Amino acid sequence: MLVPNLKQAKIRTKNKIEIDKYKVDETLKNLGQGKKYFLKTYGCQMNEHDSENIKAILEKMSYTETIDMEDADLILLNTCAIRENAHNKVFGYLGRAKNLKMRKPSVIVGICGCMAQEEVVVNKIINEYKWMDIVFGTHNIHNLPHILKKAIDNKKLEIEVFSCEGNIIEDIPVKRDSKYKAWINIMYGCDKFCTYCIVPYTRGKQRSRKKEYILKEVEELVRDGYLEVTLLGQNVNAYGKDLEEDYGMENLLEDVAKTGIKRIRFVTSHPWDFTDKMIEVIKKYDNIMPYIHLPLQSGSDKILKLMGRRYTKEEYLELHKKLKKALPNSSITTDIIVGFPNETEEDFKETLDVVNNCKYDSAFTFIFSPRVGTPAAKMKDDVPFEVKQERLARLNELVNKYSKEANLKYKDKVVPVLIEGYSEKGDNILMGYTDTMKLVNIKCDKKYIGTIQNVRIKEVKTWSMDGVLEED
Ligand code: 5AD
Ligand code: SF4
Repeated sequence: MLVPNLKQAKIRTKNKIEIDKYKVDETLKNLGQGKKYFLKTYGCQMNEHDSENIKAILEKMSYTETIDMEDADLILLNTCAIRENAHNKVFGYLGRAKNLKMRKPSVIVGICGCMAQEEVVVNKIINEYKWMDIVFGTHNIHNLPHILKKAIDNKKLEIEVFSCEGNIIEDIPVKRDSKYKAWINIMYGCDKFCTYCIVPYTRGKQRSRKKEYILKEVEELVRDGYLEVTLLGQNVNAYGKDLEEDYGMENLLEDVAKTGIKRIRFVTSHPWDFTDKMIEVIKKYDNIMPYIHLPLQSGSDKILKLMGRRYTKEEYLELHKKLKKALPNSSITTDIIVGFPNETEEDFKETLDVVNNCKYDSAFTFIFSPRVGTPAAKMKDDVPFEVKQERLARLNELVNKYSKEANLKYKDKVVPVLIEGYSEKGDNILMGYTDTMKLVNIKCDKKYIGTIQNVRIKEVKTWSMDGVLEED
């Protein structure tokens, strides 16, 4: 049993990052013969992409996927630790899995992802969820075949969670969810240690993949007909800072643009590392999408300092202005936390002021959630919960107003849309995204799925738009 240790997870050394290659274990390739797995994913794009790796690893062991938990021989929850409600959802789901396990004891139930990296979670599992079979961490995905084998053979809870800085494993198999859009990790981990955030503890130190591996992956995707790649990292602007060679995000963006892939997107940016050179490259290449996610978190200098964000309101506004000037048609979105310890009404108004200034295309807004082991969790929280809720509601109202306003600019315009598949709106309606990440519903023939089409926007709402194909 290898349980997580937050103190260890916090350590950062200058040790060289190892690059290992994934090896398929031929001896375990039939372990899942005739068996089905059910995998549920919570959280960010990083987790979505990890799940694509987990699916491929399981399928190389002959498991097949089911979307019905009742039908599964293996139930895995790939979890998120960012806020308490993510925890609650997972424990709620484990309750359902337990019921199934009572009826069908052979079923293997496990969790992986960020919650598996937390001491509080694993202690709870050891004490109250002994009936579970496996827990493995974000640094242990490549070892899943062996963890599974041990759990099946020993019939007891198998825990393997490294609390290390982490290495890089190349060539992990992947079963991509889309045939047109692909996630590509360009880096792992984070060294920013914003005081509220658990990610540097659950994902290890910042480690950039070498450009050769990233470019090879993009080139293969181009050959396979993919139209869009999203370059993923907790703080992609810091890409390359840990590499020996002098090669940063602006260089990578340029090289990826030159592969000829139709669309390139990158998330998430930290305002601290956004360079002028990056802005120039985004401007220069038509295939780099004019879409920037630029988390603000708070508009108050006092709160930004308590959060350890390393920029002021003024600096953030300056960067935003610079981006809008260089890329006038870009869409800029953000993340905001309300109710951080010590946030006064005045502080909150500073946040509203930034929103009024930046008029975001959209924003993800959250109430501060203390994460055990982070500095902010130890701060005295003097903001009553009702006040936090009230601030969130006021913030959302303002954010939604600007989302609608931003969308209104698209009315009657013709924009390129990557048509991905059927809309939830009903039969014969397809959906896709503009290069500014606006959701568009289009009534057109299914033959257009997997293509980029010019679409005229007819109707605009807060969250989506309706459009028709523009005839040539
Ligand atoms: N409480 C609330 N929101 C958080 N986020 C990260 N940690 C916390 C926390 N402890 C938000 C930030 C981040 C987004 C992914 O989640 O806004 O940008
Ligand atoms: Fe968390 Fe800050 Fe790193 Fe983002 S930059 S993952 S908020 S510590």
